[in-house]
Amino acid sequence: MNIVKTISELRTQLDAARQAGKTIGLVPTMGALHEGHASLVRRSVKENDVTVVSVFLNPTQFNDKRDLERYPRTLDADCRLLEACGAQIAFAPSVAEVYPEPDTRQFSYPPTDTVMEGAFRPGHFNGVCQVVSKLFSFVEPTRAYFGEKDYQQIAVIRRMVQDLGFQLEIVPCPVVREESGLALSSRNSLLTDAERRAAAHIYRSMQWSLDFARDHTVAETRQFVIDLVNAHPQLEVEYYSIVDGDTLADVQQWTDAPHVVGCITVYCGAKPIRLIDHIRY
Ligand code: PAJ
Repeated sequence: MNIVKTISELRTQLDAARQAGKTIGLVPTMGALHEGHASLVRRSVKENDVTVVSVFLNPTQFNDKRDLERYPRTLDADCRLLEACGAQIAFAPSVAEVYPEPDTRQFSYPPTDTVMEGAFRPGHFNGVCQVVSKLFSFVEPTRAYFGEKDYQQIAVIRRMVQDLGFQLEIVPCPVVREESGLALSSRNSLLTDAERRAAAHIYRSMQWSLDFARDHTVAETRQFVIDLVNAHPQLEVEYYSIVDGDTLADVQQWTDAPHVVGCITVYCGAKPIRLIDHIRY
């Protein structure tokens, strides 16, 4: 596997592959890789001739400086994992390489980027669109792989791809979970063992609500999940939204949309660590 630090080196390697008619899979990541990331990489390796994994902790998508500062950085271990998954290129540029000038571009795809994470993390999706649009331009992939762990992120990126006319396929990949149900996340490594056990209560609560939802309204089910999660002393719900799985607009009735999804954000533990998850009704 090649570890590439510059855009020009990346282009040289990919141009050769493209001229040879090869397909290119891109897996964008921020590092601190785990089995969730690995599942995306393995899928890309299976479906493409060349897989590029970007490992770039993108400062422009962090609205909370402390979150960026304590984000785990594990490039050596990341590269070992990527090599084991069969990726051909790890693209690990510096901030100056990706942003030689401050990025002043503004992206706006309401309601996908204004609700939920968009409302509680102002500027977050703008930063995601800034970096992902750059990665798409640098790599020009055939396919790009994103985890449904970040359900809303995929909806925003789909809108951006449509808006900017990128010629590529977005491939959504299922959430990888611990046995406890807790969705794997780079931020889980910041949890104590007790906090990790508490965090498993998030997905469990949403699962219990599937049954509850059969004979209760959307509003009642939403409150059921909020109360259940908040009943745990280590957990505090920031929001629980039950939305149309495609547009992300709130639903009032279960029949308002073909796919109804519940999206949750919870603060866990003393630091606290912010965790997101979702479930399909
Ligand atoms: P990051 O949080 O590192 O995640 C990289 C990719 O891995 C995302 O598409 C995310 O949804 C996926 N992923 C994370 N945990 C997963 C899990 N448990 N199961 C399945 N997939 C999982 O998301 C980002 O980085 C950034 O916003 C990025 C798109 C790289 C732009 O900076």
